Amino acid sequence: MNNATSHLLTFLSVLTLATSSLAVEPTVPVVPTARAANQPQLIQKDGRYALMVDGAPFVMLGAQVHNSSNYPEALKKVWPAIQDMHANTVEIPVAWEQIETTEGKFDFSYVDTLLEQARQHKVHVVLLWFGTWKNTGPQYTPEWVKFNNQRFPRMMDKNGKVSYCLSPFGEETLKADKKAFVALMNHIKTRDQLHHTVIMMQVENEVGTYGLVRDFSPQAQVRFKQDVPQAVLDHKKSPVALAAKGSWSEVYGDYADQYFHTYAIASYIEEIAKAGRAVYDLPMYVNNSLRDPLEPMAPWKDNFASGGPTYDAIDIYKAAAPHIDIAAPDIYSADSNKFKATLDRFQRQDNALMLPEMGNAAEYVRYAYLVLGRGALGFSPFGIDYTEYSNFPLGSKMTGKPMVEPFGKIYAAFRPMERQWAQWAFEGRTYGVAENDARTDQTISLKNWKATISFREWQFGDKGMFPGIKDLPEHTDIPNGGVAIAQISDNEFIIIGQYARVRIDWAGANDGKTSMWGRVEEGHYDASGKWVMERNWNGDQTDYGLNLTGTPVVLKVKMGMY
Ligand code: DGJ
Repeated sequence: MNNATSHLLTFLSVLTLATSSLAVEPTVPVVPTARAANQPQLIQKDGRYALMVDGAPFVMLGAQVHNSSNYPEALKKVWPAIQDMHANTVEIPVAWEQIETTEGKFDFSYVDTLLEQARQHKVHVVLLWFGTWKNTGPQYTPEWVKFNNQRFPRMMDKNGKVSYCLSPFGEETLKADKKAFVALMNHIKTRDQLHHTVIMMQVENEVGTYGLVRDFSPQAQVRFKQDVPQAVLDHKKSPVALAAKGSWSEVYGDYADQYFHTYAIASYIEEIAKAGRAVYDLPMYVNNSLRDPLEPMAPWKDNFASGGPTYDAIDIYKAAAPHIDIAAPDIYSADSNKFKATLDRFQRQDNALMLPEMGNAAEYVRYAYLVLGRGALGFSPFGIDYTEYSNFPLGSKMTGKPMVEPFGKIYAAFRPMERQWAQWAFEGRTYGVAENDARTDQTISLKNWKATISFREWQFGDKGMFPGIKDLPEHTDIPNGGVAIAQISDNEFIIIGQYARVRIDWAGANDGKTSMWGRVEEGHYDASGKWVMERNWNGDQTDYGLNLTGTPVVLKVKMGMY
């Protein structure tokens, strides 16, 4: 254990003692299997989750690289961006085609370089297994898989026409993918079990199928007529009132094709994850290319990838893939209603919130506060490296530092308290808002207190005081504000945010008293977990609320009553 970790663990035990009335009850691992002490794992209590890294909750301030940056040479353009971003975790692919170019011959030299350099840069790694399916297609499989339809069958439509997508019923495909994944997990175990550089695995990438609801090959047709397995019936309620059990069509009606395909893909992934975890038990998740979270529920009509862990199909993944901890959304719509609806749909008692991907454009920056405030395990903007590849229109038109820095400022403020934040989140003490597209005020209900967050305010005075002033503050043309709050004791709060004004008012039983700021300290937590004050805000800096500028700072706020 290094010095910083031992300080941290001391700090966390002190924190737990200090807050013993709210002490954390014994927790349960999400997937209970044998693992070495302090190996990364996901635990949950009362529907809240913590990703344990080196024995304490950890929040991933992540950055996902572009799709072809998974080679030693390309890493040279990854690290400077990760550093500018102040990320603590890099999400990066490892492709089947690169570790097993020739069948049976494994080459892990890239993985070794990656792990060594990640350690040098003091960041953790989430490995993205690009195997049978990457954005539903087989492009990351080795050539000996890609072009051998006989051995590795593709799906078929109703007329027997071959689809681009590999069939989830390909027994040889599953065997070969599983073999490669197990070899990878074995290698990671050998190289990393004492380091814990790799903290999570993503199994496949954005699975499902576009343009075809399911496999219609003769083999698939036989299975489609079979009864829905009990585990699926136990988890997934039919959206239509039909038979309680029976064939897929009898139970799920017009949804049967999609749910049958979901079950087939989830079962395939389960085999891979289960075999990988038997070798080296890391938390594992699947990521999802979303269906519209606001559209009324309706059967698949070519409007999303059928078979993926869309929000309506999470239950089927829970039933068929118990070795997958999380179904996680990739968010590429900056629309504030959709963003929030997606979080609502994926954050569930049985499913931890984590965003493996989100757009890297300026419109997404504000969501860092919402996501971290909601107690997510972490998130990663996508396309973070200096290969000069722009992700527009999904993400930013910009590349390089201008794209990275707006996120970097937030990560820089969070990083010194990343462990404290993860602990508070696990205890249910954190809250967050992102400025919505309508720019309206938002409130947060805290224990006995209420926070009101407003946007586009000048830093002096209240809106009504200067009716003649029509100008608006700089850098607020797009919604750019956000605030995250942790209530660390009855009357104390950690507040961090940008382009927003925060007020806090008493909301407990009315005893005729008035509340006011006691202290508003700007500062940071040091490596031993001690709060270090840099200055105290007062006068113009507090008279009209706490005005958070474009440079996020951490405030430790104490409220009082008179
Ligand atoms: C989602 C995928 O999961 C990523 O690998 C990438 O292709 C992005 N879409 C788009 O850049």
